[in-house]
Amino acid sequence: MSQANSKKNIAVLISGRGSNLQAIIDAVEGGAISASLRVVVSNVQSAHGLERARKHGSEAVFLDPKAYPARMEFDAALVDLLKSRETDLVCLAGYMRILSPGFIRSFSGRIMNIHPALLPAFPGLDVQKKALEHGVKFSGCTVHFVDEGVDTGPIIMQSVVPVLDGDDVETLSARILKEEHRIYPLAIQAFVEGRVKVEGRRVRILKT
Ligand code: GRF
Repeated sequence: MSQANSKKNIAVLISGRGSNLQAIIDAVEGGAISASLRVVVSNVQSAHGLERARKHGSEAVFLDPKAYPARMEFDAALVDLLKSRETDLVCLAGYMRILSPGFIRSFSGRIMNIHPALLPAFPGLDVQKKALEHGVKFSGCTVHFVDEGVDTGPIIMQSVVPVLDGDDVETLSARILKEEHRIYPLAIQAFVEGRVKVEGRRVRILKT
């Protein structure tokens, strides 16, 4: 691999349990992601993901929104933190804050998110419930680049799961989550290897 000499740094932003973070940690530890998990940042002090990061030996930072007058200042501090850790890629993994345009410009084309629906269907929150209520027969998850809209950036990878007759939010969410844990590391590794090519809205993943 041509970029093997320059290991990339990943930062993960979380707000909660961090199961996707754990999938990323496992992939880094197992070699499926050839990058360093440089720092994990949470806007929620009690987020279980912070412990997961510490266990892995990564820096885990709680950045308190209450310590800043507004989103702009909070995001500016976040940008400073991530830049000081030489972050190449920012992965959102259950990060429950909208990023300001300033943040997005600072890491333009280098922010990914995992979303538990097949975008552009069901952007936003509580999307497994919305998918069930709408009666779709298939749902899934999407890894996408983050732009200034809500879940609107170019789609990198998707995985489809069936919606079964007996499903409730819990069972559907669990089926989707399993796929989240599978495809997020794949998308991250493709990026780390320089195989993700963005052409307008279309993203091509070059073969290894
Ligand atoms: C996941 O369903 C993810 O798709 C969404 O938020 C949830 C985070 O879960 N953006 P976890 O914290 O990774 O377990």
